[in-house]
Amino acid sequence: AIPPLSQCLNLYDFEVIAKKVLKPTAWAYYSSGADDEVTMRENTSAFGRIWFRPRILRDVSKVDYSTSLLGQKSTLPVYITATALGKLGHPEGEKNLTVAAGKEGIIQMIPTLASCSFDEIVGARVDENQVQFMQLYVNSNRKITERIIQKAEAAGVKGLFVTVDAPQLGRREKDMRMKFDDVGSNEQNQNKDTVDRSQGAARAISSFIDPSLSWDDLTWLRSVTRMPIVLKGVQTWEDAVRAAEMGLAGVVLSNHGGRQLDFARSGIEVLGEVVEALKARNLFPNPMFQIFVDGGIRRASDVLKAVAMGATAVGIGRPFLYAYSAYGSDGVVHALQLLKAEMEMNMRLLGAPTLKDVVPEMVDARALGTH
Ligand code: FNR
Repeated sequence: AIPPLSQCLNLYDFEVIAKKVLKPTAWAYYSSGADDEVTMRENTSAFGRIWFRPRILRDVSKVDYSTSLLGQKSTLPVYITATALGKLGHPEGEKNLTVAAGKEGIIQMIPTLASCSFDEIVGARVDENQVQFMQLYVNSNRKITERIIQKAEAAGVKGLFVTVDAPQLGRREKDMRMKFDDVGSNEQNQNKDTVDRSQGAARAISSFIDPSLSWDDLTWLRSVTRMPIVLKGVQTWEDAVRAAEMGLAGVVLSNHGGRQLDFARSGIEVLGEVVEALKARNLFPNPMFQIFVDGGIRRASDVLKAVAMGATAVGIGRPFLYAYSAYGSDGVVHALQLLKAEMEMNMRLLGAPTLKDVVPEMVDARALGTH
């Protein structure tokens, strides 16, 4: 039996329960990382090398952790990142995330490879002001990509996150040992009869992604939309600087949840060098170029470490998948409320009544490396 939601005291608890309730194919797809999963483990353990330097005797009777991402309000410096194949875990799939994000006032990034159709996900908004972003895999057939972008823009999507760390899908061996059981994939997966279904979900759905995508294509991408464009999956200061110099709206420092290149560094580790390089070029701080981080974020303390080091907000993936797989959208609402309660407590104990007070001096990140 599934324990009552009130017994989930933190985001890790959902994973333990989800492992018991998910079908083996779903667990394999959601939980897996690439190769030896070194990067996947590093994503959480890197936060363990950062320590706080809290300040005392500040008035923290009121704490405010609201912020804005790409000019859009959010009650937390956290968004729900894009994860494919939402129906593997629950029949309502990504709509669970839409509903919970709407109720709790945070932003959901809609995946290109959602199980629910784009219209269903947009249709699940709790009110007309609910903000969503969209994650984009660029199709070898640019006409299809252009259609997806224009549809998103027309539906009021406020930001386009182009995934740039997946010219080929990584080897997630747990997943590859499973046969892909197709639960409602969407219009991107047209070549249904030609895909190889014998090697897991990831391989079955990703054959359309264009490995030739390059910097030049971003000029085209910018010409077909007015949405702000963010690169998702930047892993070095060199690429972050290039994105900033091009005038893009931001970058997500991410290794795709450890599912792509094993031995890629954690996003939080990359953040140090990115901020330093941008500062040296007078490109940081810059409200028109925001830095996001994802991978391994499970606690408000992780969120605050990223914010202190220069991130505007962070993305969280698996914990929300696990939460709705076990409890539907209520599980995601509960997960977000847990994060909010942790934020309040951590900010009080840090002596930071607002996110502006969460400054670089509040962390000791020397153990992360040179930054
Ligand atoms: C992902 N991620 C992802 N990213 C993306 O750009 N497009 C996608 O289709 C997917 N699909 C996907 C499926 C699953 C099951 C997972 C776990 C992840 C990566 C995702 O956006 C994000 O980078 C990581 O999930 C963040 O790490 P955590 O929070 O899961 O540790």
